[in-house]
Amino acid sequence: MSLISQTAAWRELLSARDRMQGETVSVMFATDAGRAENFSLDLGDLYLDFARQRIDANVFDALVTLAETAGVGDFLKRMTSGDAVNSTEERAVLHTASRGFASEHEDVSEVVERGNKDLQAFVDGVHQGHIKTASGGLFKNVVAIGIGGSELGPALALDALKDDVDEKLDVRVCGNIDGIAFKRAFRGLDPSDTMVIVISKSFTTLETTLNARRAKVWMQDRIGDGWVDHFVGVSANLEETAKFGIKAGRVFLMYDWVGGRYSLWSAVGLPVALAYGWSVFSGMRDGAREIDEHALSAPLAQNAPVIMALLTVWNASFLGYQAEACTPYDTRLAILISHLQQLEMESNGKRVTHDGLVVDYPTQPVVFGGVGVNVQHAFFQQMHQGTTPAPIDFLIPACAPTGDERSHGLLLADALAQADALAFGRENIEEPHRHHPGNRPSTLLVYKELSPQILGKLIALYEHKTAIAGAIWGINSFDQWGVELGKRLSGGIRPMVQGDSPPTPSLAPVIASIRRMCDR
Ligand code: F6P
Repeated sequence: MSLISQTAAWRELLSARDRMQGETVSVMFATDAGRAENFSLDLGDLYLDFARQRIDANVFDALVTLAETAGVGDFLKRMTSGDAVNSTEERAVLHTASRGFASEHEDVSEVVERGNKDLQAFVDGVHQGHIKTASGGLFKNVVAIGIGGSELGPALALDALKDDVDEKLDVRVCGNIDGIAFKRAFRGLDPSDTMVIVISKSFTTLETTLNARRAKVWMQDRIGDGWVDHFVGVSANLEETAKFGIKAGRVFLMYDWVGGRYSLWSAVGLPVALAYGWSVFSGMRDGAREIDEHALSAPLAQNAPVIMALLTVWNASFLGYQAEACTPYDTRLAILISHLQQLEMESNGKRVTHDGLVVDYPTQPVVFGGVGVNVQHAFFQQMHQGTTPAPIDFLIPACAPTGDERSHGLLLADALAQADALAFGRENIEEPHRHHPGNRPSTLLVYKELSPQILGKLIALYEHKTAIAGAIWGINSFDQWGVELGKRLSGGIRPMVQGDSPPTPSLAPVIASIRRMCDR
């Protein structure tokens, strides 16, 4: 019932932080020939180099002691074996089981296996033409409607794999209620050969149900009652899917014990399987499972997600960095940034512990980022010389994705040069505007190629990193009460916006100006 900050391990790191104020990454490299080797981890097709972080061997050992003190190993065992580690909702957290990692619960494994069989039969049935449209034709297009965790994982995988894997169906996603997302997703599609998948664990999410109703009308206008043959549901709420009119046999279950932002491996991955085939989807799950095996078996000091989590804790809670950037030098991973924003910030953007104590240390930093090299021409100026730098994860594909070795060489050199420039800086006393202070932390995460397996590994690495950081901070990474208040207020504000009730004093001027601009 006490905060992690009350432990000797935390206090040791506070002293280490004071000691490190006078240290620089440059000097630490200059005085330790083995530094690059010592602060790296080779996982075969993944390589983690964290030598440019502001740590020395003593800090690293103290961080590992912190992980031990926080019971990280025990937490991972409890999470993956089905304990209710989501304390506020009293739920198990078994996304690892949803990708086939043994859960010790036979019934869970059975449910997952059965669910996968049904899902695969459906996917293969659509691809082989056994599952047909209302008029007996073949499905050609799919629109997946969902938001948050019910959108971002599939959106990331669809985008990341589209250049390297044969597309079996044109699959699009639709999240926002602004009308534009719907228009774009459905542009050019013919209702008679389009399938709509409504993905929503609760099946009460306003945005999703609104877009689903729009899609239903769009389809009914053209194919009438045949719409039911074109709608699929992915949900935990079978009552609501039935009310909406989706046939029971066309609903794939989202398990109560898988949270939205960790759900890509469950039926939420259906759009990915439909786009690229079952083998691609299972390849992703295989990759993720390999990371589960690593996370659960590697010693803490050689455990990639543990190290990544400890570095975030060190940077955010001790060195005071309030933001953290992710820069994949790979256009295919553009959506990873949005996915990580939800994964990390919705999981750990919290200020109380499991026991309800208010923390006295910073927790989750803001996650932002963009694709390299483009980011070098955007926000990197601030990273190099600004007053509020942020630690950066450089994600780097080892092999040229298009076979163009020359341009890939340039890209690699760019990424490594940025990391070195941030770490080592360049002194220029005469021209202060050219002075690069250096000592700005980064991690290199190199992957062989963006296969389905490696994509699965990358996503799972960050999932474990997130849950482990939460465990160290003592917070529940699996609820999201912070988003509830806004949802509730929105219901009360809607009539004010529509002119059906008087606006509150705080909203009156802005609502008046909105109405004036739109002549309502
Ligand atoms: O934004 C809150 C949230 O509950 C996310 O956690 C979730 O992924 C998203 O909304 C969508 O929820 P659902 O799958 O229930 O529609």
